Amino acid sequence: MESVCKRIRDQRLHDRIVSAEEAASWIEDGMTLGLSGFTRAGDVKAVPFALAKRAEENPLKVNVFTGASLGSDVDKLFAEKNMINKRLPFQADATMRKGINAGDFHFVDQHLSHTSEWIRSNVLDTIDFAILEAIAVTEEGMVIPTTSIGNSMVFSQHAKNIIIEINTAQTELLEGIHDLYEPGPQGERQPIPLSAPSDRIGVKGIQVDVDKIRGIVFTHQEDSPSTIIEPDEETVVMAQHLITFLREEIKAGRLTEKLAPLQSGIGSVANAVFHGLLDSEFTDLEVYSEVLQDAVFDLLDAGKVKFASCCSITLSSEKMKSVFSNFETYRDRLLLRPQEISNHPELIRRMGLISINTALELDIYGNVNSTHVMGTKMMNGIGGSGDFARNARLGIFVTKSIAKDGKISSIVPFVSHVDHTEHDVDVIVTEQGYADLRGLAPRERVQKIIENCAHPLYRDQLNEYYQEALKKGGQTPHVLEKAFSWHTNFEKNGTMLEKAAQPV
Ligand code: COA
Repeated sequence: MESVCKRIRDQRLHDRIVSAEEAASWIEDGMTLGLSGFTRAGDVKAVPFALAKRAEENPLKVNVFTGASLGSDVDKLFAEKNMINKRLPFQADATMRKGINAGDFHFVDQHLSHTSEWIRSNVLDTIDFAILEAIAVTEEGMVIPTTSIGNSMVFSQHAKNIIIEINTAQTELLEGIHDLYEPGPQGERQPIPLSAPSDRIGVKGIQVDVDKIRGIVFTHQEDSPSTIIEPDEETVVMAQHLITFLREEIKAGRLTEKLAPLQSGIGSVANAVFHGLLDSEFTDLEVYSEVLQDAVFDLLDAGKVKFASCCSITLSSEKMKSVFSNFETYRDRLLLRPQEISNHPELIRRMGLISINTALELDIYGNVNSTHVMGTKMMNGIGGSGDFARNARLGIFVTKSIAKDGKISSIVPFVSHVDHTEHDVDVIVTEQGYADLRGLAPRERVQKIIENCAHPLYRDQLNEYYQEALKKGGQTPHVLEKAFSWHTNFEKNGTMLEKAAQPV
């Protein structure tokens, strides 16, 4: 009872505690769910499982909207049980990926700052149940989120019903690190009053209409750990190239050693690049990002980063233990925000972020594909990379120059799917070097990208394509009938190499 009173401080809600099974029984076929959770952090863990169990006997399909990817294998389970009509705006699960690419259900791949606007303006199906993980509900009926905020605020404001999962495995010290700000409807909005990552502009929890809270479920389960792979030789070299570029910016007087607020995308490469900053001379750094991965906490520990603002905290198992058992040392250096604020174009442009995201492939003119393998198969989704790249002071994309033991070149004549156009891409970094594309016309970009970033195995082949394209002329020369020949060659022969060269 003591725990109940501590976690549910609004007396009106004490009689609404139910089992996950009971809460799941309220969900009907065809409904739309808005689930908390962003990149495996702060996701609801009990009700989705109970729903999947129920679906074994009574099949049903639901629309699933979230902040970003879910942990606890919820996406996997929902895909396996064929429970999805439509999923948005991001996922990163292998089974769900398979279902999407088989056409078993629909996936809307969306800029992560945009979902809230669609919900606010009733573009999407009305949310029947917002299901949110929380630390506590305060005396005033304010829901305190856990390790992510994602879209939880907008979901709960617009849902017909709310179910809360109070997760007692999440440290209560998280209370006070959230900053919930509601921008209001488009067309009636004021400028968002935030000009530095540490600015607090909102309140500490999500104010909900308590009459909409249908039930509260107690759980005790940690977030799923991240799946980050430790930096390897190549990603370490990439980090060094990026740091060399940043030093050049300082020499040119465009940055100081404090750099500018940093954003880094998900994935092993982006994490490794942040790791690279540990041994650099840069200091007093600030982070304004979506996800805080392990490397940001290493930078906080080393005193390199003085403040980090984010939308979720997603850590490896080991890091989770050390960070959450010692959380009071981080509390005054962290803020969690809704994803529409962490990814807001107005703020990204105002603060002049340095934004580092990962490409799957890019082309000789600087267009980037972050999502579609061989132009058709969804990997994860665009996530926040587009929110940041277009609006940042520096839109940087990193990728290894080759994939699959050299059978794939990450630099191709024409990307097979475009997420970030040449207009949004300032700098490209691979383990070969970096290409600063700012101020360069398409024809000036080609040589830089091939010489500085492409793998030696593919440089001649890229040059041959470009020479042939030049004969056709144009602002952005191409040989259209050959533009995707590298991809079709891979599909036919298992390699992008035209001549029978030796894969590395
Ligand atoms: N064609 C086909 N496959 C490719 C490829 C290409 N051009 N380039 C890389 N891959 C494969 C790799 O071989 C690897 O496959 P595996 O899982 O079978 O080993 C996989 O893609 C991941 O590549 P990796 O080099 O390990 O990079 P990563 O873990 O950093 O992930 C992205 C890279 C692009 C998939 C990931 O960063 C992403 O989804 N980005 C888009 C969303 C985003 O940027 N969000 C940022 C804000 S949240």
